[in-house]
Amino acid sequence: MSPAATDFDIPFLRSRRTNKWHKFPDDVLPAWVADMDFGVAPPIAEALARLARNQEYGYAAREGALAAAFARRMQHRFGWTAEPADAHPIGDLVQASFSSVMAFSEPGDAVLLQLPSYPPFMAAINDTGRRLIANHMRDSGTRWVLDLDAYEAAPDPRARVLIFCHPQNPTGRVFTRGELEQVAEFAIRHDLIVVSDEIHADIVYPGNTHIPLASLSPDIAARTITITSATKSFNIPSLRCAVMYFGARALKERFFARIPARLLGSPGVTGVDATIAAWDEGQPWLDDILACLKSNRDWLAQTIGSEMPGVTMRLPEATYLAWLDCSALALPTPAGQFFLERARVGLNFGETFGAPYANFARLNFATPAPVLREIIGRMAEAVRGFSAA
Ligand SMILES: Cc1ncc(COP(=O)(O)O)c(C=O)c1O
Repeated sequence: MSPAATDFDIPFLRSRRTNKWHKFPDDVLPAWVADMDFGVAPPIAEALARLARNQEYGYAAREGALAAAFARRMQHRFGWTAEPADAHPIGDLVQASFSSVMAFSEPGDAVLLQLPSYPPFMAAINDTGRRLIANHMRDSGTRWVLDLDAYEAAPDPRARVLIFCHPQNPTGRVFTRGELEQVAEFAIRHDLIVVSDEIHADIVYPGNTHIPLASLSPDIAARTITITSATKSFNIPSLRCAVMYFGARALKERFFARIPARLLGSPGVTGVDATIAAWDEGQPWLDDILACLKSNRDWLAQTIGSEMPGVTMRLPEATYLAWLDCSALALPTPAGQFFLERARVGLNFGETFGAPYANFARLNFATPAPVLREIIGRMAEAVRGFSAA
């Protein structure tokens, strides 16, 4: 990999017209939205250059190409056999989660979601007039765990859908086969359709294995819509290209009986070609990126442990996101606001992942090591200043 792909400096990162680097004033270092301060895999760069060279922007002839690449990738990476005919190309995962909620429930129905949660999932429930049933995860002392029993105490007769995020954002959990079996049994017993967001499945650290939920059994597959894309792991979120995979033909038919395919639109040719290049040829690049992310993760965990008393971070098993518990600091403001004001670091505010999480913040560590050191240096100084006062 060209060293430039992970060695960008702050002036260059700021010169890129990304939301990450332009949401906050220039004296703030951003560590929020989930994209990486790196480049892209050479096969992606070449796919995009080829389109530009050929000025190839007419209506595309790519029938079935993305679905076939998805099936190859699932087989090769996770040993999961997916049927290309049951995959549907779509612009993005948020759109896939909104449309799935709308297809498989009615206004007033309940949708379950583990909290803390990636904020748009809550929007997919609230903005469509469904009721959010918050199923809070628990910090076991070493990692975040599911607590499905909490729901059993008061099941909702109008629960129709479970939005499941695996690997989980923001806790970084990779659920084990045992945990996934519990989820599958739970969904079947409560007759829930599962929207399984597996967008982070490629960014998994050694010692953990991603298992697609729908790969567990035909019974859970028949009620699971797996939604994924190459956009997180291959750093191309603005190319808007994703896949919805229906674990049974009947599920796909039910979906399209409610949601006209033409309402959803379809991904553009840049997204499709880049995704195919990523999935088919991008793995050597991703392996290098994973090594870099692991080194950032390990340094971060160690430095937070030693330099930021009062801040707790469970080691993420996947994702380049760290979920920081700042409760022990007893801050006067939400943690995100504290670090923005006192450290000039732009994190995701914990309360956007669920109302009880104002003492938390999410930090994106997919950035060159010198930038990460500067971010953490500023944060540690703010914590020291506050604790000394
Ligand atoms: C769990 C999860 N799902 C979906 C997305 C966004 O996907 P998209 O840009 O395709 O809507 C993100 C982005 O951070 C995410 O973390």
